[in-house]
Amino acid sequence: MLGRFGISMYFCGMNPETYHIPVLLTPSVEGLAIRPEGTYVDVTLGGGGHSREILKYLDGGGRLFSFDQDADAISRVEDNPRWTPIHSNFRYLKNWMRYYGVEAIDGLLADLGVSSHHFDTPQRGFSFRSEAPLDMRMNQQAQLTAADVLNTYTREQLTSIFRLYGELRQAGRISSVITKVRSEAPIETTSQLAELLIPLLGHDHERKDLARAFQALRIEVNGEMSALEEMLTSAIELLRPGGRLVVISYHSLEDRIVKNMMRAGNINGEVESDLYGRTKAPMRAVDKAITPTPEEMETNPRSRSARLRIAEKIG
Ligand SMILES: C[S@@+](CC[C@H](N)C(=O)[O-])C[C@H]1O[C@@H](n2cnc3c(N)ncnc32)[C@H](O)[C@@H]1O
Repeated sequence: MLGRFGISMYFCGMNPETYHIPVLLTPSVEGLAIRPEGTYVDVTLGGGGHSREILKYLDGGGRLFSFDQDADAISRVEDNPRWTPIHSNFRYLKNWMRYYGVEAIDGLLADLGVSSHHFDTPQRGFSFRSEAPLDMRMNQQAQLTAADVLNTYTREQLTSIFRLYGELRQAGRISSVITKVRSEAPIETTSQLAELLIPLLGHDHERKDLARAFQALRIEVNGEMSALEEMLTSAIELLRPGGRLVVISYHSLEDRIVKNMMRAGNINGEVESDLYGRTKAPMRAVDKAITPTPEEMETNPRSRSARLRIAEKIG
């Protein structure tokens, strides 16, 4: 099985030593419209590609706070008086800003999901291309693993995870087979899961569907959707008028949350009005969604599903 989905096929052209190649680097950092003395937050440090680019624009008064819930990412940050790494889930953005005495920010960038480092570290269990325990935690101190989800969730819960987060037509069949198999012995490894899934997936889209099934589990394990909603709510509150919110997403559900929050300040995307019928949208979109150029997709296959949205806080 692993031979059929060899890592070189997927990350062709990518050096396995590379932690992560930043996606949509120029348009996302330009989207922040950086003021050199401003206060910025990168809530998804990863390999630090976006953070280091932001730092280039800051002068003595400028500050950058970079969050990552993964200790591996935080451990690679070099000393810089303008740069503060924060080892935490970004859902606690507001608490951390209060802790550092920051009342308002000039811009926030989020480049969602996992980094290539996660896929390239087999023992983290994110990839179906290597044999490993089903872990998938970005925060290695967190309790819930992918194996816990597979072996303890009800069939209905599993169906909705595979349908909602994996957009898999076969979600119902997948969860039935999982509950049947686990009644005999727990499902513990990536290859056990992949072997169980392959016969259930459409032959033409096997590799894509397998990636989607793994993605669905990862989203659940890391509570990605609720963290995103909480972080965006805090970001909109913290931004000063004219401040920029820049988000790169990789999944339609994620993108919908980002779009709705940017349009209306809430997850439903419904703009509220006051007693006089005046709309109360907190942000205005800057341009349409931006996607990578064919050249970027060619050199960095991970960028293929990326979608960048930029919005500005209304004064
Ligand atoms: C796509 S990578 C970011 C890559 C980065 N922009 C770069 O250019 O190197 C996403 C990173 O965000 C982190 N992350 C994802 N969700 C998070 C969350 N809720 N809180 C904190 N960090 C998170 C992941 O651990 C991962 O390192």
